[in-house]
Amino acid sequence: MPNKLTLGVLISGRGSNLQALIKACKQPSFPAEIGLVISNKAAAGGLELAKAAGIATQVFNHKDFPDRISFDAQMTKALKNANVQLVCLAGFMRLVSEEFVANWHNKLINIHPSLLPHFKGLDAQAQAIDAGAKESGCTVHFVRKEMDSGPIILQKTVPVLADDTVESLSARILEQEHIAYPEAVNLIASGKLTIEGDTITL
Ligand code: GRF
Repeated sequence: MPNKLTLGVLISGRGSNLQALIKACKQPSFPAEIGLVISNKAAAGGLELAKAAGIATQVFNHKDFPDRISFDAQMTKALKNANVQLVCLAGFMRLVSEEFVANWHNKLINIHPSLLPHFKGLDAQAQAIDAGAKESGCTVHFVRKEMDSGPIILQKTVPVLADDTVESLSARILEQEHIAYPEAVNLIASGKLTIEGDTITL
């Protein structure tokens, strides 16, 4: 398929959402491919998944940079060098700077394990259980400067069961995350998405 959208995926950990994107991108008809995976942790399991799939990886340890802006600028440089058109945060456990968000306006998406705007931030699944929510799920959204905000691309809902633990609810949500993320990328890459009145064409 000609003119596939080039993705950059940012991770910090096990990379199961990255794996879901790798799997989707393997399908000849999928309109995107992964050009680069960046991790801020050398030990992130997702790096091995990327390497096994023959995808270029880079590790930037944020502790090697004087501040967030210079760390983010290094990531932008690497992403541009790899001709990345859409950046996917997939368990990337660093807040990104306003500069990074501005550089990638409408080209930066995230997946969060709750039905935003509910339960922003860390431990979203525990927050849902503690609040007595009857349902939760996941959200893929464009990133804006406020954490876990920004136009929603799509959501998947799951029930929260009376005997759920954080682990059981997280597993049920994660299964939906792995469907939602490739679906959202597909929508963007095929130019079928309108956000805030703009058709997103990358
Ligand atoms: C996922 O639950 C995602 O929603 C959140 O971080 C977790 C990353 O998991 N942002 P994985 O590394 O993709 O397996």
